[in-house]
Amino acid sequence: MTETDQNYSQNDHQTPEHHRSIRSFVLRQGHMTAAQQRAIDTLWPQFGIDYQNSPVDLNRRFGRSNPKVLEIGFGMGGATVEIAKRLPGHDFLAIDVHGPGVGNILKLIGEEQVGNIRVMRHDAVEVVENMVADGALDGIHIFFPDPWHKKRHNKRRLVQTPFVAKLLPKLKTGGYIHLATDWEEYAVQMLEVLSGFDSLQNTADGYASTPAYRPETKFEARGKRLGHGVWDLVFKRVK
Ligand SMILES: C[S@@+](CC[C@H](N)C(=O)[O-])C[C@H]1O[C@@H](n2cnc3c(N)ncnc32)[C@H](O)[C@@H]1O
Repeated sequence: MTETDQNYSQNDHQTPEHHRSIRSFVLRQGHMTAAQQRAIDTLWPQFGIDYQNSPVDLNRRFGRSNPKVLEIGFGMGGATVEIAKRLPGHDFLAIDVHGPGVGNILKLIGEEQVGNIRVMRHDAVEVVENMVADGALDGIHIFFPDPWHKKRHNKRRLVQTPFVAKLLPKLKTGGYIHLATDWEEYAVQMLEVLSGFDSLQNTADGYASTPAYRPETKFEARGKRLGHGVWDLVFKRVK
């Protein structure tokens, strides 16, 4: 059985004609505030990027050729905006599927006058597959991806070997991938997955100390309130 076959056979909704792959998210309705909706209405044309089935010219979208960082799953976007302010020389392509979060990050971009973020509302797996050119990225951030902690849901986790294998060619040699989680068993999985790639080198001995550019995220704060630990991983693409 190939890896792909395995994915399909694990899929609860599989039909023989229609192979839907397993998604790492469940679309929540969530309440969009009036201010978030207003931010979408007014700021999407400037800071939003619509999904397309072909590579996007990121330098053109940001209006400059500075280093590009992809963030998958920005949540409400608070940490993303803070990072963009701390690293004004970098450009951030921030992706999430959650509507109120998209409204919220655009609202923050407007309030804080941040020019180095572009926002997408789409499944990041498809964006990586179809819109990001090889070697286009200098960095990848995935902070506190949904832990899917129940055994039967583990297959929905974003950080698994097949997806990382798709991500890595998008990274320049010398670029980095930075993951963080508050779920210990997922941290172990992340370390195993990243360590399995010859093209990656761990920048730390095991888990990394949190880099100065990463503030506490909303999901991380929630984890800490529940007594969870925090694990960062920073690997560099060396070949
Ligand atoms: C647990 S939250 C963490 C949010 C934020 N990084 C934080 O630390 O507060 C995970 C986020 O990833 C998003 N997400 C999960 N799978 C995704 C995918 N395939 N593409 C885009 N976003 C995704 C979810 O919608 C959710 O907002």
